[in-house]
Amino acid sequence: MKSKELRQKFLDFFEAKGHKIIPSAPLIPSELDPSVLFTTAGMQQFKRFYSEPKEAPAMRIATCQQCVRTGDIEEVGDESHLTFFEMLGNFSFNNYGKKEAIEWAWEFLTDQNWLGIDKKRIDATYFDHEKAKKGISIIEDTDLESLAILKTLSGLNKIEAQGEDNFWSLGTEGSPGGPTVEFYIDGVEVWNLVFNEWIFKESHWHSFGVKGVDTGMGLERLIAVLNMEKNVYDTDLFQSIIKKIEELSGKKYQDNQQAFRIIADHLRAATFLIADGVEPSNKERGYIVRRLIRRAIVKAKKLGIENIFVAEIADEVVEIYKDIYSELENKRDNVKQTLQNEEEKFRKTLSLGLKEFEKIKQDLTGQKAFRLYETYGFPLEMTEELAKEQNVQIDKEEFKKAFKEHQKKSRTASVGMFKGGLADSGEETKKLHTAAHLLLAALRQVLGNGVFQKGSNITSERLRFDFSHNEKLTSEQLKQVEDLVNEQIQAAIPVEMTEMGLNEAKKSGAMGVFESKYGDKVKVYTIDGFSNEICGGPHVENTKDLGYFKIVKEESSSAGVRRIKAILK
Ligand code: SER
Repeated sequence: MKSKELRQKFLDFFEAKGHKIIPSAPLIPSELDPSVLFTTAGMQQFKRFYSEPKEAPAMRIATCQQCVRTGDIEEVGDESHLTFFEMLGNFSFNNYGKKEAIEWAWEFLTDQNWLGIDKKRIDATYFDHEKAKKGISIIEDTDLESLAILKTLSGLNKIEAQGEDNFWSLGTEGSPGGPTVEFYIDGVEVWNLVFNEWIFKESHWHSFGVKGVDTGMGLERLIAVLNMEKNVYDTDLFQSIIKKIEELSGKKYQDNQQAFRIIADHLRAATFLIADGVEPSNKERGYIVRRLIRRAIVKAKKLGIENIFVAEIADEVVEIYKDIYSELENKRDNVKQTLQNEEEKFRKTLSLGLKEFEKIKQDLTGQKAFRLYETYGFPLEMTEELAKEQNVQIDKEEFKKAFKEHQKKSRTASVGMFKGGLADSGEETKKLHTAAHLLLAALRQVLGNGVFQKGSNITSERLRFDFSHNEKLTSEQLKQVEDLVNEQIQAAIPVEMTEMGLNEAKKSGAMGVFESKYGDKVKVYTIDGFSNEICGGPHVENTKDLGYFKIVKEESSSAGVRRIKAILK
């Protein structure tokens, strides 16, 4: 069976059972959920509806959700680990419970009108708390209700009791969770049915008193077992990518499976992540994407792919998914450009870095691994992998120490530099920079102290300023803000700078933006009685130099963030 048909079958089945079909949520979870970097499960976008079922858009929902799991990137290359995958799921928010969930799963898997899988291939497991390891935080009820329901499924091959493996939750404070029933086909776990009747709060599980169902089934794995294929890379979702890598490298997949799989998996994930707005960088989500791309490039180089190729793989990914996820097609050019820039940047240093690695591999200290990172852009995890191939281990602690020392040095340096977002230090830019301080203070006066700076970009022509706020500003609010800023300009207030310790600055109530970038000593710019901000400068000496402040545009920048463009006349 092909992926497209299977997705559709699943959604059709649950639609016929009264479920509302909802599109996949983005891979970057909403700002309401800062607990995770990426969407890792279908239930994530619905997390709060288990305890607040009235808020749910429907009591029964089914989805095909894009997911990214980064816990075992290093395992990718075997037959089943994937960074990006799609999860088919059905959900109930205080509507149906265990009986329907289990019986429908069974019907979908075995009924001739649906998947028609031979019942003898299928086993199931349920939660038995006595089998769970002592001391881990789970509930103490064996799920006898599920066991009784499983016993009614005629033809099911085997039922087994399991411990903590059959208890699922996201694992974070406030997450729902519960016992699970899992279906296995030929010994491979394919469907996880979670009964979310509990919530984890203040280190304990509490019963909600409402019924919740969250099921998840990996699409790639399911197609593989349906087609009796050995692994997820044999499915139609990878064929054209693998063919492309064969073309580019002149090598055969059969002889280089691990490298091919890593390239295919990593670049598929990177394509989806970049389409969702992640930029390769050295931090958090961006760092994960960078690692994926760079690891894929190193593997490709070893296969003999010496030219820029990553964007070509992205094209294949878009072709495979564009009918299902139209955003990929819309963002195709952007994604390809981002990938190409990243590849060009990395390829510049890659050969030199690999040569350097050859030189130092016998004595690869953490310090040297850091140098590979700093000078040649080798992520630590990648160097570790190269080292492992040589049976060498790297001292991670030493790497971290070198990393921290480097950070400290660059922080001290950046205090004397201009604040991020400043194009130059010319007179006009300087004025607009001071205006940005007035603007932030004015926005906080008008909209409240929930407003924080989220970014700024200043050229000699205009100021662009992003800040946290949920609603569009009314024209009255905009006028109030403008007036407040202009009042400060007319009042001709001196702009004063004091150097002090970071803690002292915070105590003085100075606003800060990107705290992590500050060193121990900071500059605080004060416009008396109005604004007090930690900042690297530069600024004008007196507000009277600014002229007249005018807001030219107010718009949304991203969820929960507004953007103002302003000029000085
Ligand atoms: N949340 C469960 C999982 O991720 C079932 O959807 O496995």
